[in-house]
Amino acid sequence: MCGIVGYLGTQPAVPILIEGLKKLEYRGYDSAGIAVLNGGNLTVTKSAGKINLLERLLQEEGCPDSHIGIGHTRWATHGRPSDINSHPHTDCTGEFAVVHNGIIENYQSLKEWLQQEGHTFVSETDTEVLPHLVEHFYRGDLETAVLEVISRVQGSYAMVAFTQKEPGKLVAVRKDSPLVVGLGEDEYFLASDIPAILNHTRRAYILEDGEVAVLMAEGVQILDQWGLPVDKPIFEVEWDAKAAEKGGYDHFMLKEIHEQPKALKDTLSSRLTPDNRRIQLSEVKLTPQQIKNIRKVSIVACGTAYHAGVVGKYVLEKLARIPTEVDIASEFRYRDPLLDEQTLVVVVSQSGETADTLAALREAKRKGARVLAITNVVGSSVSREADDVLYTWAGPEIAVASTKAYTTQLICMYLLGLYLAQVRETLPEGEIETIIDHLRQLPQQVQIILDRERVVKEIAEKYTQAENCFFIGRGLDYAVAMEGSLKLKEISYIHAEAYAAGELKHGTLALIVEGIPVLAIATQEELLEKTMSNVKEVKAREATVIGLAMEGNREIKKSVDEVIYLPRTHAMLTSVLTVVPLQLLAYYAAVARGTDVDQPRNLAKSVTVE
Ligand code: M6R
Repeated sequence: MCGIVGYLGTQPAVPILIEGLKKLEYRGYDSAGIAVLNGGNLTVTKSAGKINLLERLLQEEGCPDSHIGIGHTRWATHGRPSDINSHPHTDCTGEFAVVHNGIIENYQSLKEWLQQEGHTFVSETDTEVLPHLVEHFYRGDLETAVLEVISRVQGSYAMVAFTQKEPGKLVAVRKDSPLVVGLGEDEYFLASDIPAILNHTRRAYILEDGEVAVLMAEGVQILDQWGLPVDKPIFEVEWDAKAAEKGGYDHFMLKEIHEQPKALKDTLSSRLTPDNRRIQLSEVKLTPQQIKNIRKVSIVACGTAYHAGVVGKYVLEKLARIPTEVDIASEFRYRDPLLDEQTLVVVVSQSGETADTLAALREAKRKGARVLAITNVVGSSVSREADDVLYTWAGPEIAVASTKAYTTQLICMYLLGLYLAQVRETLPEGEIETIIDHLRQLPQQVQIILDRERVVKEIAEKYTQAENCFFIGRGLDYAVAMEGSLKLKEISYIHAEAYAAGELKHGTLALIVEGIPVLAIATQEELLEKTMSNVKEVKAREATVIGLAMEGNREIKKSVDEVIYLPRTHAMLTSVLTVVPLQLLAYYAAVARGTDVDQPRNLAKSVTVE
């Protein structure tokens, strides 16, 4: 995830900016840069790669003696990691510099407009529109220009603007992306995350959406989005450095579970047309004719990404009516799969570096199939080798257990299914709009589930002594059961199995004994009766059943021991909601058992061996 720092004060700015950037390294990044004043001129130094490369560049070029500056670590979204795509970005004159976190959803139309106005762009980033907009609206007062800019951009941002025309001022603003202002003695700091300021101060303003901070030697002024002063309380930071890295959460996994509403919104929003009626996947280069020619889709992935693929199979078949198979990558390449140029192979990988997935991708290309990758890491091997890439804009995932990557992979599956359906005209009039309406509600609905976290925690704590556990469901619920069971296994070390609810009686029912916890997922209305009869089978063997159902399903209460209710959505989209309590359940079970939640035994975040 990108990191922002800023400094204005009496000390040399460069070492403070570099130190702040280093404190944000844990968030993951692929390039770094700073902008400071050098003899009254704005100087930008930036480079792809790690911060030590930036430091080397600064040594070679001579470290400017500036008392003001901004810095950034970039996690690529629009445009691969490169020197030119790194931040800070500047305007045409080189007099304005901006660092930015988040995604500017309407950057394409803003860029076209600015180009018509005579502006020249050098990078592939969405961010570059920001310094050009500041240049365009600047009339001698940086905060007024920034207010003009934010009234025109859509998306999420934390940004800091800086100009040599007003050499004693930094202007910062945020929407849906964190930003704090650190308050020292005659010096002020900016950071996207508290760890970057903790060596200097524990007093800060935590900016709210739409608030603008104007930093000057005389002090910090906070304005609202209309430019009116805001009287803001000072926040005293009590976290230690480690807790601060996790945003105050006990573990990265919990932080990442809570980041899902934003990750879902970021992944979804810019892929919808402005009227929210259609899907636009500008990054996918498949032509309408190629899409119409697809005879088969083959989804290939490992672990959690494979589970997203299982949901993808249901989704693509239902929406686009294309026969779809799903394979575990390590199996796929050795079964001599039947692929040709009319097969679309979809590889799914958070890291984009998983050896088995990469080998499967190469095998698919060798056989002449077109490969589309769903991945979270711009510039990863998978993204470079695939023909098309659909990014999950989840930001870096640090915990080994995948959470926000999975739910954003699901969003990409829905986007892809709807896009293929749109081109192949496989859905009845109005259906795409209906599903989009429901998709747009998912981020808020996930937030509702997170707000009820305590209920799940209490349930998890009741069953932490269990050594075995079952997850059952039908259809899409079975797909999510697989992910729920993997989450529980990998971090709590409780043995868990996912079963298609109707399959239990063909053998596994023998393992159901008194008190064994069974998670019964029952969100699919058309399968409800059948699922409930399977619930009764396990209840009759005295299992303890925890049901997951949609709000309004009162019947289920009569047959189970506990129920976790989920906000209602379209039947095809329930997986995004159902998995969230299962992630929390695994998390709290692991915490209660005292395991290493973020670094479970024997596991690695990125598996680069076959
Ligand atoms: O980076 P990838 O998505 O390719 O990784 C695949 C699996 O190794 C990964 O999803 C793994 O199963 C997760 N740690 C599970 O939480």
